Amino acid sequence: MGKDVIVACDFSSRENLYGFLDKFGSKKPFLKVGMELFYSEGPEIVREIKRRGHKLFLDLKLHDIPNTVKKSMAALSSLGVDMVNVHAAGTIAMMEAALEGLTRPDGTRPLLIAVTQLTSTSEERMQKELLIGASLTDTVIHYARNTKAAGLDGVVCSPLEAGIVHENCGADFFTITPGIRFAGSSADDQVRITTPAKARELGSDYIVVGRPITAADDPEAAYEKCLAEFAG
Ligand code: C5P
Repeated sequence: MGKDVIVACDFSSRENLYGFLDKFGSKKPFLKVGMELFYSEGPEIVREIKRRGHKLFLDLKLHDIPNTVKKSMAALSSLGVDMVNVHAAGTIAMMEAALEGLTRPDGTRPLLIAVTQLTSTSEERMQKELLIGASLTDTVIHYARNTKAAGLDGVVCSPLEAGIVHENCGADFFTITPGIRFAGSSADDQVRITTPAKARELGSDYIVVGRPITAADDPEAAYEKCLAEFAG
């Protein structure tokens, strides 16, 4: 795995998702499903995506006591997903429990990655509300190191942080990076954005791309363009 485009399927219903996927014909992009779709449609949406032959990143960002996370991960793993995530803030013990829960009876498991600090959290809020005294960058690096120590496969981060994460955690520690836009297109609500080509240059392993593909006039062409720029 590695160097792939993950399409963020931020749709509110399965009808919208399937309508979107039907535009891809026989192509099977790697998809990301988040809380909105999973909580409204339930695990059946995951089974259907897997039946259709896609790889799937189930973005549910678990954060609870280790035992609960372990058991929840076992349930998600049995759905056949390819990538799942937790909050690194749940501690190394929680991340280790997550990894244990994910491992299937046949020894295989989905990739497990961690969120370090959400991009919606500013340094000021992190320091004042969460009482984390370090800088945002140092906190991201520290949480990435914890993630690596727990045996996970990588972190979600900005493409701009991909280099520093690799420097601290190794070249084979995955960076999964949202905030991708084509040159000259709208940033929407994203602040720090890069193009697929730039993300590749900065060392991202997977880019997560939503609206530039889902809201495009021709989603399949937008997906192909992304893939060519990033992985081509
Ligand atoms: O539409 P857009 O390309 O902005 O979608 C980016 C996707 O990546 C969304 O699903 C968003 O929730 C997710 N994401 C993000 N920033 C993070 C983590 C996840 O934009 N730090």
